Amino acid sequence: MRQPLIIGNWKMNMSIADSVDFIKDLNETNNSVAQVGLAPQYPCLNDMVKTKGEILVGAQNVNDHLSGAYTGEVSVELLAELKVDFCIIGHSERRMYYNETDSAINTKAKLLLENKIMPVICVGESEEEYDNGKTSEVITRQIKESCADLDIKKCAIAYEPVWAIGTGKSATSEIAQSVCAQIRAILATMYDSNTADAVRIMYGGSVKETNIAEYMAQEDVDGALVGGASLKIDSFTSLINYK
Ligand code: PGA
Repeated sequence: MRQPLIIGNWKMNMSIADSVDFIKDLNETNNSVAQVGLAPQYPCLNDMVKTKGEILVGAQNVNDHLSGAYTGEVSVELLAELKVDFCIIGHSERRMYYNETDSAINTKAKLLLENKIMPVICVGESEEEYDNGKTSEVITRQIKESCADLDIKKCAIAYEPVWAIGTGKSATSEIAQSVCAQIRAILATMYDSNTADAVRIMYGGSVKETNIAEYMAQEDVDGALVGGASLKIDSFTSLINYK
């Protein structure tokens, strides 16, 4: 049985004070069957970890080197020292604006696992790739490269079609199910089917309180990575407490 996982990705939003109030409030309103997590900006992590209660707290990125001359970057060892639970890697915004590659994502996943932090590995095709029928090809390449040689059961994967992120144009639950099932099938070829069955695969892209239940009802969709709808306590509470 895979426990559902719903993570709010706050991106470059929320103050330190507001993030602490939010996580305290969420502990009161959380009645979810899912494991619930929040990924704030780095400077919020310390205070949020201290007040996290049953909510998981994670970072939105980590550097792929252990330490050294990488001005402006944050190391995995610092995240471990802060005791974060998970770290998002390979988000499409990082792939697009910071040229993050599948090989760097794979290195980051290994470093995170060595430091007992759950990697949340994001994959997804662009609008152009979707329109040209390339989804399957893109997802296969991204999964094969970013998820190679990992203790994959300890990772979560998020399928996020780029055309659905922040656009309000969410993928249908059929598309989400079909691609998440495909990801599981690829993992079965890379590992084995028991291992693939144990991995949590989430959908992300314009998930809201009004459509979360549809996604969660799909056999191979084990959760959601939520951007915009995770920024307000009321909408995120309704979303995580989906019925
Ligand atoms: P969105 O973002 O929910 O605002 O579409 C999702 C994400 O980028 O993880």
